[in-house]
Parts: sequence; C-alpha cells; structure tokens
Amino acid sequence: MPDPANQSAQPVHHHSVRHFIEEPDLSADEFRALIASAIELKSLWHRKEPRNTLQNRTLAMIFEKASTRTRCSFEAGMNQLGGHAINLSPADTQLGRGEPITDTSRVLSEMVDVAMLRTRQHATIESFASVSTIPVINGLSDMLHPCQMLADMQTFFECRGDIRGARIAWLGAGNNVCNSLINTARLLDFELVIACPAEYKPDNQILQNSAGRATVTEDAQAACENAAAIVTDVWTSMGEESENEQRLKALAPYQLNQQLLNMADKDAIFMHCLPAHRGEEVTAEVIDGPQSVVWQEAGNRLHAQKALLEFLLLS
Ligand code: CP
Ligand code: NVA
Repeated sequence: MPDPANQSAQPVHHHSVRHFIEEPDLSADEFRALIASAIELKSLWHRKEPRNTLQNRTLAMIFEKASTRTRCSFEAGMNQLGGHAINLSPADTQLGRGEPITDTSRVLSEMVDVAMLRTRQHATIESFASVSTIPVINGLSDMLHPCQMLADMQTFFECRGDIRGARIAWLGAGNNVCNSLINTARLLDFELVIACPAEYKPDNQILQNSAGRATVTEDAQAACENAAAIVTDVWTSMGEESENEQRLKALAPYQLNQQLLNMADKDAIFMHCLPAHRGEEVTAEVIDGPQSVVWQEAGNRLHAQKALLEFLLLS
C-alpha cells in the first residue's frame, strides 16, 4: 500500500521549470534561437497561416503598472497560438486587498500554464517565481525589461544582421531598459556605450557584471560616433514621476536630435521601447524620420513573445 503521507500533490517538475525574469535566464544560443523563431513566426503570421501550438493553454498577466504594448502583444500572441490570456489588475483581484504574492503564485500554478508580471519592485517577481511551478515572465520591473530585449534584438537582426561585435549607443537615463541592454550586450557580445549624467547611471552591479561590454560616459557625442544603433527611453519611468522636474533638467543634454544621429553610421537605426516623449529624450524629426524603426520594434514584441511562450511551454 502506498503511504498516503507520501502522496504529495506537489508537481514533480518544479525544479526544471524555466523562467524569463532576466536576460541571462537564457543562454546566448537560446537567445539567438528565439530571435530566429520570432522571425519565422512573423512570416507565418503575415502569410495568415494558422498555428495552434498553445491550444488550451492559459497565460495569467498581473499588471501593477500601465501597459499598452506588453498587454496587447501577450494577449494577442496567446490568442494567435490557440491559447488564452487573462488580465489580472491588482485593483480588482485579492492582491489589492493584501493577499500575499506567494499565495497568489501558488494558486495560479494550480490553474494556468504560464504567468507574466509587470511590477513596481523586481523582488515581487522573484518572490512569485520562488514558489511557482509554472514559467514566470518579467513583463517589466523597476530593474529590468527582458521582453523588450527580445524584440529589440530581433529588430536589430532584421535591419543590420547579427549584433555580435556591433557598437550600440544608449542615450539618457540609466533605467530598467538600459540595465537590460547591458545584460544583453554581455550575452550577445556587443559593445554598448551609455551616455548619461552621473546621477542617473545604470545599476552598478549589472554594469560590473557586463564583462567590459558596457561603458559609461557623460559625452553624448562620443557615444553616438560610429554607432550601428542609437537607443533611448523616457527620462522619467513609471514610479519616478515625483522626480520629473530634476530629471528633465539633468537629462536635457542627452536628447537625441538629428545632429547627434548624424554622428552615427550612415545606416544607423534609432530604437525606443515606447511610449516616447517627443521634444524630451528624442526630437520628432528623429523618431518620425527615416532611420527610426520604432514601429517595427513595437510590432516585434508580438512575434518575439510568441517565440518565448512556445519555448517556455513546449520545450
Ligand atoms: N515598451 C513597453 O513595454 O510598452 P508598454 O508599457 O505599453 O507595455
Ligand atoms: N523605462 C520605462 C519603460 C516603459 C515601457 C518605464 O519603466 O516606465
């Protein structure tokens, strides 16, 4: 007779479950394979070929902060693969009434197949993942935005080929997207030059782990010279609104305008995760100009995350 005490209801796959919380959760080979798969999924989608690889699978999405692209791309992506997505706003779930994030995680593991979280604090995603038996995806935290990296790298590969060895410039606040780009520079082996004021540098630990792939300067022009791509983001991120005035002042010299863009390669591309503030971090002339690939970049969120969902759920 089996001992009932040993008949634990705990799933046995707990330790092998894969998450995508930070870029190094993927190996460089896996990251490149996901880009290839995203490009393939994009072409299937353009040819309107149906694909039902995630039939009957459900994604739960928890958004503590606003989103247009992340919500829409994950929800549309699940639908297009034959699955379903549920949006859980803390305001109208028990999270808003104080149910612990780890209890929420355990419950969702019993009901859905994958979870995506956008949180104020990175530690919230880590707590959720620490007890999760299903894959957990970081849909942006105060520290990182790894899903944006999948789409950005897909976009660079489509426009300019493999990014290995390329020189990329970041202009502006050393924020979550910048931290993710540093991790990605190490992973995919490119040179990242970050131009930012001393008060708004990226995370020191992440910078130190970059194995020399990322360097910081206060000289915007030097950063842009001979760059294959220039990347920027809003100066005030979600949650930093009270610092808006100081940030606008300190970051003003880091606005990307046509003159700075002209310092880069002739065929350099401009990337921005969006939403953008024209006249702050980038001029309208640049973001709406011929070197800007921001709409392709936003669209690639859909394809890159479909590739990620298939990777996490099917491999
Ligand atoms: N780039 C990005 O993550 O956009 P959303 O905030 O609209 O999701
Ligand atoms: N750095 C921005 C990115 C938004 C997608 C923020 O965190 O608000």
